[in-house]
Amino acid sequence: MRLALAIASFVVLIVHGVVFYNQFFHRWEQHQTAYFEQARSLSKNDAERAELEARSPRVEQTIVTSFGDTHVDRCTTCHMAADDPRFAGHAEPLKAHPYSAAMGDVQRNGRWERRHKFSDFGCTVCHGGQGRGLENVYSHGEDEFWPEPMLGYVTQATWRKDFTPHLKGKEYMEANCAQCHTAEDFAGTPHVNRGRKLFYAMNCYGCHKIDGMSEGTLGPDLTEVGHKFKIDYLWESIVEPRANLATSFMPKFNLNDADVESLVIFLKSRLIRPQRN
Ligand code: HEC
Ligand code: HEC
Ligand code: HEC
Ligand code: HEC
Repeated sequence: MRLALAIASFVVLIVHGVVFYNQFFHRWEQHQTAYFEQARSLSKNDAERAELEARSPRVEQTIVTSFGDTHVDRCTTCHMAADDPRFAGHAEPLKAHPYSAAMGDVQRNGRWERRHKFSDFGCTVCHGGQGRGLENVYSHGEDEFWPEPMLGYVTQATWRKDFTPHLKGKEYMEANCAQCHTAEDFAGTPHVNRGRKLFYAMNCYGCHKIDGMSEGTLGPDLTEVGHKFKIDYLWESIVEPRANLATSFMPKFNLNDADVESLVIFLKSRLIRPQRN
């Protein structure tokens, strides 16, 4: 009896320990502690060190108010060094965000400046994912129930294995760039632009309506298709028209992978934009 009691209380202790550990030692806190340590060793003067001393682990977030509905992005809780150029060569999640002319970033006196300031834009306007999440699987949208997995970096477990290799690549993000950059020849969205041309060249427009672009009625209206479906479904709909509806009379086009990808990115960009303030 005593032994049983001893074992039971030991088990209770362990369970408490695990619960306590999960409550108080989040993965993000470990990333932040690592960031503070590395930043301290990179500090060049007392002022920089003092500024670090004043900080302690906490949830970092950006409240984005300028683009559609107000939303909260907490990505920088782990991606602490996104705007810290000293961390350019470090490992994720403590790596400085790349700069590029393609994103409109400019170099002045040898220093890059962001065109999309993270304090105004947050992260999910370009990447997708779940802004409020504080664990990789949720933040990045790997969870199959999250409708907007990070574009180009994440595939979900339920997606067809034969498609997933095609569904990675930063070019998928163009579907989000195109929400704000709508010009048909915008240089930052080459895949969207190519997909739009293919939509006409391959006669998709003859059967599908897209508001402002085409009037086809034989197939479903694709005006909101970017909202309705994830990229795996779009890929499948194009390469295997009968995968979801055995009686579909949509022709099977023999497109190469690059054409299918451009069409998928174009279709993913098709949704009625929320009003941008
Ligand atoms: C809980 C911590 C955490 C949060 C919150 C988080 N990330 Fe990450 N992220 C990581 C880690 C760790 C990695 C590297 C390992 C991996 O790829 O899963 C990573 C990797 C990435 C990568 C891929 C880099 C590559 O080359 O594969 C992107 C893009 C990214 N994160 C974007 C985001 C965005 C956008 C958000 C917010 C919606 C976010 N992350 C929120 C921890 C986090
Ligand atoms: C939420 C809206 C939004 C998203 C998403 C977005 N941008 Fe922008 N982008 C802007 C705004 C607003 C400006 C103008 C900023 C300024 O006034 O300097 C801009 C400026 C630019 C510029 C500078 C040239 C120009 O036309 O002013 C480039 C290039 C650019 N963005 C590329 C991209 C790319 C590539 C992506 C996707 C990875 C992207 N943008 C995503 C809103 C957005
Ligand atoms: C204007 C659109 C835009 C915004 C806003 C944005 N990103 Fe990115 N991000 C990109 C693009 C485009 C790339 C691919 C860049 C490249 O490889 O040249 C990228 C790449 C990344 C990577 C992979 C880095 C690598 O070296 O391959 C991570 C991680 C990441 N972003 C995280 C974030 C986080 C965290 C935020 C918010 C603080 C954020 N991004 C905001 C467009 C954006
Ligand atoms: C001959 C008419 C026809 C042509 C041409 C055609 N489609 Fe379709 N499409 C259909 C029909 C019919 C369906 C399935 C109807 C259903 O799911 O109820 C469909 C379904 C789709 C779907 C899935 C939509 C949904 O709501 O499930 C996508 C995406 C799509 N087509 C894209 C394309 C693209 C891209 C092209 C050009 C490469 C194209 N279609 C050409 C008739 C056509």
